[in-house]
Amino acid sequence: MSGDAADVVVRPLVAADLSALERMERALFGGSAWSRQMLADELVGPGRTYVGAELPGGSLVGYAGTWYDGRDVQVMTVATDAGYQGRGIARRMLGALLDRAREQRAESVLLEVRVDNAPAIHLYASMGFRQLGRRRGYYQPENVDAWTMQLLLPAPVVEGAEGER
Ligand SMILES: CC(C)(COP(=O)(O)OP(=O)(O)OC[C@H]1O[C@@H](n2cnc3c(N)ncnc32)[C@H](O)[C@@H]1OP(=O)(O)O)[C@@H](O)C(=O)NCCC(=O)NCCS
Repeated sequence: MSGDAADVVVRPLVAADLSALERMERALFGGSAWSRQMLADELVGPGRTYVGAELPGGSLVGYAGTWYDGRDVQVMTVATDAGYQGRGIARRMLGALLDRAREQRAESVLLEVRVDNAPAIHLYASMGFRQLGRRRGYYQPENVDAWTMQLLLPAPVVEGAEGER
């Protein structure tokens, strides 16, 4: 079926994607949606990596982003258009961001997720994230708790380093 993860291209986001991002952001996050300006600032923010999932026809059906602070990577957002969920698209996007985090030599990847967001929790757990703790009332004004989750990234093996003085 068109729109399966295998059909989409995961590519860096650019300013020309802002209208599609704004539309998906409003539809998926409602009252807590980031504004167009916040999305624009995120795309070019320091340490940010943002990718989108594009259909063969050119439509954007998902987006995800991270912030690398020099030590750890924080997942800023992951979202798939409602009509394209459940096809492995978020898994592809997150996989690309984890590859980037490894290139950045991040020690770990961290995120917060609403405790009632089962699809997202399953996605992160299936990719190796473990629950670290619970942040009470993290999401306001709904007053919903967040799980903090972490994926530890093993330090890369440096060839020839063993036994060196
Ligand atoms: C969470 C979200 C990004 C998942 O996107 P998606 O493209 O549908 O996810 P995928 O198809 O790649 O699914 C990957 C895994 O997520 C989990 N998952 C996805 N949808 C699920 C559902 N409805 N119920 C339970 N688990 C689900 C499964 O573990 C799935 O793996 P599987 O297919 O091997 O079982 C999507 O539901 C979304 O955009 N939600 C609204 C925005 C949001 O809440 N973002 C997360 C903020 S922290």
